[in-house]
Order: sequence, then C-alpha cells, then structure tokens
Amino acid sequence: MNFIPYGRQEITAEDIEAVVGVLKSDYLTQGPAIESFEKAVCLEAGASHAIACSNGTAALHLACMAAGLQAGDSVVVPPITFVASANCARYVGANILFADIDPTTLTMSPLACRKVLEQAVANKKPVRAVVTVDLAGHPCDMQAFSQLKQEFGFIWIQDACHSIGATWEDNQGIRWKVGECPDPDMTVFSFHPVKHITTGEGGMVLTQSDQLAHKLRQLRSHGITRESAEFVNQTEAFADDGSPNPWYYEMQQLGYNYRMTDIQAALGESQLHRLAAGIVRRREIMAAYHARLNRHPHVSFPDVAESVGHAYHLAIVLIDFASVGKTRALLMNHLKHAGIGTQVHYIPIPLMPYYAAMADINEFPESIAYYRRALSLPCFPQMSDADVARVCSVIEVTLT
Ligand SMILES: Cc1ncc(COP(=O)(O)O)c(C=O)c1O
Repeated sequence: MNFIPYGRQEITAEDIEAVVGVLKSDYLTQGPAIESFEKAVCLEAGASHAIACSNGTAALHLACMAAGLQAGDSVVVPPITFVASANCARYVGANILFADIDPTTLTMSPLACRKVLEQAVANKKPVRAVVTVDLAGHPCDMQAFSQLKQEFGFIWIQDACHSIGATWEDNQGIRWKVGECPDPDMTVFSFHPVKHITTGEGGMVLTQSDQLAHKLRQLRSHGITRESAEFVNQTEAFADDGSPNPWYYEMQQLGYNYRMTDIQAALGESQLHRLAAGIVRRREIMAAYHARLNRHPHVSFPDVAESVGHAYHLAIVLIDFASVGKTRALLMNHLKHAGIGTQVHYIPIPLMPYYAAMADINEFPESIAYYRRALSLPCFPQMSDADVARVCSVIEVTLT
C-alpha cells in the first residue's frame, strides 16, 4: 500500500535533465539559470522583477529589509499562517500586531486589519507594513487591502507562498494573476517541495518597482554592488584614467548570502512548465473531496470568493470534532495507520511560546475556531482518483 503524504513534489525526466545540464555547465551558482528562471516566473506571474533566493523565509526577510523596516516598527500579520510570515519582521526588530482571519476564506480579515490600523494611528504609532497571506492558495481580499493601503499608507508584503498560479478578478471584471497587481509592494513565493513547484529549497520576491528590485538584489548578495556607476569610494573604485578597477566591488549595506543556486533554478524553471496543469489537477482533487465529504453533517469546506481562481496548495477540510465526538488526533492517527498523511495548517502563531507574550490568543476568536476544526488532506497532482477515494473512506469510517 503506497503512503499518501499531504503534499509531495513531482520530479520528471525533464527536470533531471535540466539539473544535469547545469551540473555539466560552467556555473553552479551565479550563472545564467537564475536569470532565466527569474524571467520565466516574471512572465508566468506578470511581474516586472523577480529576485530568486534561497527559500521563502529568506525572501520574506529580504522584503522586510528592502521595505526599510526597522526595530520598533509595527507590522500586521494574520495569526493563521506559517511562523515565517511573522518571523521575517522579527528578524529586522519589528513588533508584530495580529489581525484575525475572515472565517469564510481564512485569509486576513480586512475589517480586523482596519481596526488594528486605526488603533495604531490612535496610539500615534502607525503601522509600517502589513503581511497578508494567501492561505492554502486563496488570494486575500486584494481590493480591500489595496483600499486600506491607500488610506493608511503602509508597505504591503503579500505572502503568496501558497498561491503561485492563483488569480482574482477585480470589480471591473479584470482578472489578475498573483504577482501581477502593482498594489502589493512585494509578493513572495516559496519553492519548498510541498509547494506547487519546487527547487528543493527556494523562494522569490516579485515586485513591479525598479527601486525595490535593485535593493532586493543587493541585499540578496551581502549588500554588494559590482556596478561601477554605483560606486561610492571613487579613489578605490577607479584608476587614474577614470576606468573602474577590475577587482573592485563595494559593500554598501548589510546584506546576506540568500542566493539560489543555478542547480535549483534549472529545476524550478523546468517545474514551472507544469504549474498550470498541476493546479487543474489540484482543483479536481478538491472537487472530489467536496463531492464526497460534504455529505457528512459535521464536515464542511472553507468558502472560495467568487472572484478567486484558487491554487489549492492545501486541501483544507473543516470538521466539527466536538459534534462528531471524535478527536482530531484520533482521525489523524487512523489516517496515518491507513498510510495517509495529514497536517494542520496552522497552529495560531500567538499560541507559539515565542509569540505568546506578544499577543493574547483570546483576541482572535476566528483563528481559534478555525484551528479547532482544520485538517489538511493530501493534495498533489500525482494523486489518483483511487487515492482520493481511499482518503475519503478512512475519514467516513472514522467519523461514523
Ligand atoms: C505561508 C508561508 N510563508 C512562508 C513560508 C516559508 O517558506 P520556506 O519554507 O520556503 O522558507 C512558508 C513555508 O511553508 C509558508 O507556508
């Protein structure tokens, strides 16, 4: 009996060939595969710039640094997300303010965010940045956050680690791809193996801003520039005849080594060709879960906003365990014994001991209510219809 994890990568012969091609080439890192992958993602997502880096967390950290966030700044984050969405702001010394989720779509509630923004203004310490999260692949309420950004003037970082390939339609009927809209200052993808496309570890920041792209590229590689037009130390940078010294480079700000390798980029670009087909299959899998499990009186699914083309990184089901009279642990263990992996996305961040002193979980009733019922079922393109049926059968048997 094959084990069905909640998510897994697919590596094809073409992927392997692409990676081997780089291994046989002159550059394992800082070569042409990075630029090629960045261009391909720009084209796919409709962004002007894409900055590949070592993982999604590094991408979020770079976004916070490029945004100029500093110690003491306030950053709003939803409680239901992976800890990296908040950690990135902590890396630069910012304070986290949480805004509860919308119980229907599970993304940050614009209304809850507005309250936090207004309170911050009243406290004479306006919020510097908001990190929205497209949980499970459902874009947050993009128009509502665009409106809030206009009103409150924060930097908007869209954590789209779950939503590459998702779309949404604005109220003029224009359909946008995640990464295309200029309202978020930066949009971040992750290429971890459970995500839609993988580079082993990897991430990317997308932006429409030339200025931010420039900063992000510099910060990704130690804060160093090799562009002679940017050199500050003229005496060291240039020879007497005014030509740039051939060895010279300049570190202008404190950056990191957050680079992606060419090996990873080649894998990512090869995987990108299958993104759209993968999302089609994920939607079929989710539809099959709906059709079968929705019949159970205590099982439901999060809503999908009418305007949204969901990418289904995760197949989240909501189970009223209290009414069923069975625990989530029991169901997860039954599934595990039947060779099926599941997970909970996510434990609310304010419940994490590191964050507990910074926020009171009782202030986020929607997040807690969601967390009590959430379970992520297996969802990845290679799953067969029989795999989906097997998952449903174990759930049905356990819940009755
Ligand atoms: C919502 C979200 N943000 C950020 C990250 C961090 O990405 P990475 O694992 O590539 O560092 C993840 C990864 O799981 C995530 O799910």
